[in-house]
Amino acid sequence: MREALQTMTEEGFAHLIETRTSELAKSLAEEAVQVRQEIYGKAVYVRGLIEVSNICKNDCLYCGIRASNKNCQRYRLTPEEILECAGEGYRLGFRTFVLQGGEDAYYTDELLVSLLTKLKEKYPDCAITLSLGERSRESYKTLKEAGADRYLLRHETADKPHYETLHPSSMSFDNRMECLRNLQELGYQVGCGFMVGSPGQTPQTLAKDLLFIRDFKPDMCGIGPFVPHADTVFAREPSGTVELTCFLLSIIRLLHPPVLLPATTALGTIHPEGRELGILSGANVVMPNLSPENVRGKYELYDNKLNTGAEAAQGLKSLRERMAAIGYEVVTDRGDVKK
Ligand code: 5AD
Repeated sequence: MREALQTMTEEGFAHLIETRTSELAKSLAEEAVQVRQEIYGKAVYVRGLIEVSNICKNDCLYCGIRASNKNCQRYRLTPEEILECAGEGYRLGFRTFVLQGGEDAYYTDELLVSLLTKLKEKYPDCAITLSLGERSRESYKTLKEAGADRYLLRHETADKPHYETLHPSSMSFDNRMECLRNLQELGYQVGCGFMVGSPGQTPQTLAKDLLFIRDFKPDMCGIGPFVPHADTVFAREPSGTVELTCFLLSIIRLLHPPVLLPATTALGTIHPEGRELGILSGANVVMPNLSPENVRGKYELYDNKLNTGAEAAQGLKSLRERMAAIGYEVVTDRGDVKK
């Protein structure tokens, strides 16, 4: 299937998704696991996720930390608190830190440059990933020069009309895509991604996502099921499924074999063995939570978001055991993309 996917048309992808069977999913997963094995062996990379702020100027219709959600208890971490989290992560063995947050104007270039400089001084053997939303090309350049190695910015959907139904009119599909291109040109390892089963998603919009990924060749790609949040417009919409998420993980692995592909927290949230199922479909990254205990429950992008057990950085032992049980080994080096 790997070769066929390289030349498949948009209609071809839509048809593949529409007519999928459990037999097809099984054979794609086997091929995806084999392809990943050739590049990454049995390694599962871990990233320490620090959720720096749930304050966000945006009002994405699906997201629990959207600006208009009055029920969200807002917090932000200071640079000192972030450095403390990284210290704890380093002791636990993490060698990649992901600083993720809403679009919070508190995190100016100046603040971030100072923070990145300190992080790089203290932990020169670590990779720093930023996931702080849309910023100017100049800002991305400044942060790269200060030591940021990677940037995660999900494209959310590669279909412009669909993008516009998920976001307020103050946000633009074109700007999001422009940000991704800027990040790639500036030399970041770049991650895009989307939710599976977001309201309005169809096999056709998913086909566009797959074409975009084949063409853009991201170093990382975050996909997880949409999960409704009670305080959003989409509160009553159904969740995405484990089945379709895993099917797409396998296809993405085959479309772009070196991609770093997380088995996401959302996948772990809708199924007790979500992470394992993701790995067995072709994923090779897990991102446990390193945020301070007192704010952990507040970064609530969707209902019932996991933040304990193997989902917490302190649960690394349990994560190791769970991965070992399916024949995989948790690796705590930087885990750069292998090109
Ligand atoms: N369900 C699943 N994922 C969500 N995200 C935001 N809200 C939800 C939700 N309700 C994802 C978005 C965003 C990432 C940080 O979390 O894709 O880019």
